[in-house]
Amino acid sequence: GTHRGTRETGISLTRYLIEEQRAGHVCADLRLLIEVVARACKSISHAVSKGALGNVLGDAGTDNVQGEAQKKLDVLSNEILIEANEWGGHLAALASEEMDHCQAIPNVYPKGNYLLLFDPLDGSSNIDVNISVGTIFSVLRCPDGVTQPTDEHFLQPGTAQVAAGYTVYGPSTVLVLTVGHGTHAFTLDREQGGFVMTQRDIRIPEETQEFAVNMSNMRHWYPPMRRYVEDLLAGKTGPRGKDFNMRWVASMVADVHRILTRGGIFIYPRDTKDPDKPGKLRLMYEANPMAFVVEQAGGAATNGYERLLDIQPSKLHQRVAVFLGSKNEVAVATRYHREAQ
Ligand code: AHG
Ligand code: MN
Ligand code: MN
Ligand code: MN
Repeated sequence: GTHRGTRETGISLTRYLIEEQRAGHVCADLRLLIEVVARACKSISHAVSKGALGNVLGDAGTDNVQGEAQKKLDVLSNEILIEANEWGGHLAALASEEMDHCQAIPNVYPKGNYLLLFDPLDGSSNIDVNISVGTIFSVLRCPDGVTQPTDEHFLQPGTAQVAAGYTVYGPSTVLVLTVGHGTHAFTLDREQGGFVMTQRDIRIPEETQEFAVNMSNMRHWYPPMRRYVEDLLAGKTGPRGKDFNMRWVASMVADVHRILTRGGIFIYPRDTKDPDKPGKLRLMYEANPMAFVVEQAGGAATNGYERLLDIQPSKLHQRVAVFLGSKNEVAVATRYHREAQ
């Protein structure tokens, strides 16, 4: 057979992880954790693709800690990820958008040194209308000597992540992963049931002419955001003279995947609708993992003022404003906010 060099695509996720372990970039437990999460994403992909035939659409009839009505798939994907990770012995605890507080691995199982956070189903509002959704995950180390982790042990800045990524359940199912050595994409081969590397060392173009924001909130934005978008629409930012195009899927994983693939700037700013909420997206399992993936692909991610990965979290489900994508455009949008201070 063909002997693929270690810098080519076409290799399996398993081989990529073995090579990262050989290079000292991941240890055996982290490799197992990523394989387990990938396997859980395969199961979620299978459930999502059944749609109306799988009795997985519609509301679960319960609310989550965010005050959102849970979809059946929110609950199912959350359970799939919990069950997949319990027995492996690689995790000390896990936390999720759909759990009020973190959950320690039950004492019947051995515990490991990692903490896993996830948004089990991102883009829930799109499930019932058959638009791409996804799963977002983030891995932190459990502080030494902590055997019963609590929420506080999860409150580490994004720079402490040892791995992060997402799986987008779209026309194809694509797992995008970083362990701190570049960002790579793996497409699910459904016949063999395995993820195959289809992009290595993804690079986000530094300039863009495509922005992603929910414009319906415009009248609630703070002045810097309004000024930035007005100037963007007037052709005053980005590579001179060209109009911007707009895309807003309302599934963060789909918008971020498009930006990783062809550039762009994704923005969910804070707004005056709820001054207590500094934005809609959650820092620990949406903004931070996406920021790690984006930075490892040569992009940038801020909250309008500072680098997202530097933020010291204070609450497990805290929200944050997000500006991420093509480095130069994120810098322009961030400057509008910094200069307004
Ligand atoms: P989730 O479905 O996990 O709650 O996340 C939804 C988020 C994110 O995926 C997306 O970018 C954003 O909500 C869309 O917000 P709007 O519906 O306000 O546009
Ligand atoms: Mn939700
Ligand atoms: Mn989400
Ligand atoms: Mn979600």
